[in-house]
Amino acid sequence: MTTSLRIALIPGDGIGKEVLPPATAVLDAVGRRHGLTFGYDEFDWSCERYAHTGAMMPDDGLDRIRQHDAILLGAVGWPGVPDHVSLWGLLIPIRREFSQYVNLRPITVFDGVRSPLSAARPGDTEGGVDLVIVRENSEGEYSEMGGRFGRGTDGEFAVQEAVFTRRGVGRIADFAFDLASRRRNRLVSATKSNGIVHTMPFWDEVVTERAAAFAGVQWRSEHIDALAAKLVLDPSSFDVVLASNLFGDVLSDLAAAVAGSIGIAPSGNLDPTGTHPSMFEPVHGSAPDIAGRGIANPLGAIWSAGLLLEHLGYPEAGAEVLAAIRSALLEVRTGDLGGTAGTDEMTAAVLKRID
Ligand code: NAI
Ligand code: MG
Repeated sequence: MTTSLRIALIPGDGIGKEVLPPATAVLDAVGRRHGLTFGYDEFDWSCERYAHTGAMMPDDGLDRIRQHDAILLGAVGWPGVPDHVSLWGLLIPIRREFSQYVNLRPITVFDGVRSPLSAARPGDTEGGVDLVIVRENSEGEYSEMGGRFGRGTDGEFAVQEAVFTRRGVGRIADFAFDLASRRRNRLVSATKSNGIVHTMPFWDEVVTERAAAFAGVQWRSEHIDALAAKLVLDPSSFDVVLASNLFGDVLSDLAAAVAGSIGIAPSGNLDPTGTHPSMFEPVHGSAPDIAGRGIANPLGAIWSAGLLLEHLGYPEAGAEVLAAIRSALLEVRTGDLGGTAGTDEMTAAVLKRID
């Protein structure tokens, strides 16, 4: 029996367009082994489109991808279009309209990839680096509330409000604790309740309430500054890290760097209820400095495709993608990893291991 799945593809800008074909090739290859066929609908939503039409996506854009099983995105952003335009014109509307309130970012050190930290051992060895950042993805510090006042005057000022809701904090905490209970039963919640005196104590309170339902999980709160330092000094001590939108954004790039390259790091924007499609994308951006040269590392996009498979209920297929990445990295490395392989060669090395 074969199952067919419809995927909305949004390559976006720059290397986003170069790393999605490798990801779909891997989906097709692993799908053949698991009775899955993928149908792709591609959308040209991007800064390039913005330059021609004045909008990142059409007015009915979200309705066009609402019925898909999942969304696979490359990267958006390009010089000439302010980053807040590309972000708020495409990514954030998708994340919010589709209640993708979890931003999931697994981090591991792979054998063959040199971490800048000499003590960081591969994630598949005892005491190696293997953690997941669970970032709140729908509210918090990234809000539209606030404004600029007295523009151009001496008294000019800007106000930006952070919004934390009991529902928003509660559901992300539930997701993170549940994930920890299926991993190594350890969780750290990022806070800053000493400096940010309203929202962060509230965050801590709601997390503590939710933790009560997961007695098996050992957890603690830690201030974001100390946590950031510890993530560098002792990354293997972490399993699940729960964080607000801003803290999670910063920590996940930091952790990806600890793992050796941002070119490998994947992410999922999940609606755990399954009501809306979830979206999978590499952590990196459009990399204008290397775009068009065929040298982008496709592994961030390929691992994102692996997360997509896991999310849609095919964990074995997802694990095969990760195993193929692990094995390919022993032999082939792209420039960001100190090697000489291009996008095609890296992709071929992964595909060879799946077939
Ligand atoms: P970036 O991630 O595009 O690039 C940072 C550095 O990492 C560059 O030197 C780049 O060459 C390198 N790099 C990134 N991905 C790589 C890969 N797969 N293989 C090899 N090297 C890789 O971040 P940057 O330069 O800050 O942003 C460029 C544009 O991308 C901006 O317009 C930004 O807004 C956008 N962006 C979009 C994101 C998204 O779509 N979710 C996320 C981050 C940035
Ligand atoms: Mg980021």
